[in-house]
Amino acid sequence: MAQLTQSEQKRLVGTYAVNELVKEGLIFDGAKVGLGTGSTALPAVERLAHFIINGQLKDIKVVTTSFQTTIACENLGISVYSMNSKEIQGQLDIAIDGADEISPEKNLIKGGGAALLLEKIVAYNAKRFIVVADESKIVDSLGTKFPLPVEVIPEARFAVIRRLEELGAHCTLREAVKKCGPVITDNGNIILDILWDNPVKPEILEDTIKSITGVVEVGFFTKNKPQVFVAHGDGSVTKIE
Ligand code: A5P
Repeated sequence: MAQLTQSEQKRLVGTYAVNELVKEGLIFDGAKVGLGTGSTALPAVERLAHFIINGQLKDIKVVTTSFQTTIACENLGISVYSMNSKEIQGQLDIAIDGADEISPEKNLIKGGGAALLLEKIVAYNAKRFIVVADESKIVDSLGTKFPLPVEVIPEARFAVIRRLEELGAHCTLREAVKKCGPVITDNGNIILDILWDNPVKPEILEDTIKSITGVVEVGFFTKNKPQVFVAHGDGSVTKIE
């Protein structure tokens, strides 16, 4: 049987997860839902829009994690709220997002799309956090393959690089495509992509890196353990509870 491509797996898992969450009553009328960023989260956004538009879900209030997802919602006709909206009060019932890597402990690397700051605000303030991923995202350890994104205040670039190098990291300033110079995040900051020679301890480094002056956010997500839906090449979807 033909294997699904990575992009087919992403579409499958985004759609499947929302179907399941609605079926299980975890996305319900009136739910406050955080919507992630990237090519796996977007099919989930589209599926949610389908339920809203055909009236199967009522009064859903969504908060987005990036310009990309806000624009997708606008194009789909879904109203977008802010975490600070009166209706949201800084807390969500559920958040759905993709990931760049997922370890056996369900620690994540996120921020391949440079949206890690809002993604973490949403994920860490959701009662339930759902991750959707194709099977290539499942790894044994973090820190040596997919570079860890760190969002940094531009003025602190050298100072932060020096501190990260003291932690054994190799740092690369993320360059923009179709624009000269660095990627500028939705919040006006730069991204350092960092790698280590050997696997690292994400639970410790999330706090250590976050405490460096000039760091706005780090792409290790270790504190609100997600339920993970994983799509496989054979067309199946498995759940890691
Ligand atoms: C965006 O900043 C990221 O955290 C994405 O969730 C992550 O990069 C996964 O992206 P894809 O679903 O496009 O692979």
